[in-house]
Amino acid sequence: MLNLLRRPAVTFAALDYSLAELGLNGTQHVILHASLKSFGNLEGGAKTLIDALEQRTATLVAPAFSYATLLIHSTDRPRSQFNRDTRVSRDIGRSAQVLVERAAAERSFHPTLSFIAVGEAAGQVVACQTLESPYQPIGALYDLDGYVLLAGVDFGSNTTIHYGEYLAGVPALTRYVAVGGQVVPTAFPNCSADFDNLLPEVQFLGRQVEVGGSLLRLYRVRDLVDATVRFLERDPEGLLCTFKGCRCQQVRALIRQDGLHPRPHVHGAAIHGSDSDSANADRVDAAGKA
Ligand SMILES: CC(C)(COP(=O)(O)OP(=O)(O)OC[C@H]1O[C@@H](n2cnc3c(N)ncnc32)[C@H](O)[C@@H]1OP(=O)(O)O)[C@@H](O)C(=O)NCCC(=O)NCCS
Ligand SMILES: [Zn+2]
Repeated sequence: MLNLLRRPAVTFAALDYSLAELGLNGTQHVILHASLKSFGNLEGGAKTLIDALEQRTATLVAPAFSYATLLIHSTDRPRSQFNRDTRVSRDIGRSAQVLVERAAAERSFHPTLSFIAVGEAAGQVVACQTLESPYQPIGALYDLDGYVLLAGVDFGSNTTIHYGEYLAGVPALTRYVAVGGQVVPTAFPNCSADFDNLLPEVQFLGRQVEVGGSLLRLYRVRDLVDATVRFLERDPEGLLCTFKGCRCQQVRALIRQDGLHPRPHVHGAAIHGSDSDSANADRVDAAGKA
């Protein structure tokens, strides 16, 4: 009986067909957030998903976050050192890990919030990240008019929204990471648990298709970032979760104290040493002291 209820395996061909239906034709720059389980049974697992997407994109990007490297205080010592091959945290998923295991893929430097990318614009996407703007690779995708692909996951996995928060001027918290043997501050955002609050704002944007048990949703990065900025202008606390113990409550307090301070989107993202960079660094420090 159980066998009758079980969905047939999703093949490479079926997946490829669905990606084509979404409009992916090998020219787009795409960031992936995926749940493998959502497919039911995907033949070949995460490798199939990455292979199919590599063929249907010009650049394939994924968050490759590794939270064991994150430090709360400047006096903390890292439990684990970061390098190009550091394992991706389990809650980021198997697909990102498969991408990390591809020798041709480039990984950005941030010990906790690294991005992994392969293809035409991979270098551009990973090179623009800074400690003050860890989500700047999304800014590069914004410049490239790239896309977000959600495969069986909700907006809680939609990292692009953090870049929208950054532009809208949501205060960042300060955390620490070890870079070049030194513990240095980095901007760190509120959590993403309530990012589905943005859904009404984007309901007519994007395309979707189902394959196996997985809902694939494709959005333009520009649409999501712009929608996030619009939404936050109306409701600055609207993407913060309400869980008492979450760092979102610190961000909420900072917003109530000092409001939003919008930051510019810098094309080309050569923001190291620029005025906006030092302004952002000040915001990080202020957030840390609060
Ligand atoms: C958290 C998350 C990764 C969990 O999804 P998941 O499907 O359970 O996990 P993965 O995608 O890593 O896939 C591994 C699971 O797939 C299942 N699996 C293995 N082979 C499979 C196959 N061929 N077909 C289908 N599922 C398979 C396994 O059950 C495995 O789970 P296990 O290791 O517990 O046994 C996912 O919900 C998510 O959020 N992904 C996006 C994360 C992200 O980008 N976040 C951005 C930060 S804001
Ligand atoms: Zn939260």
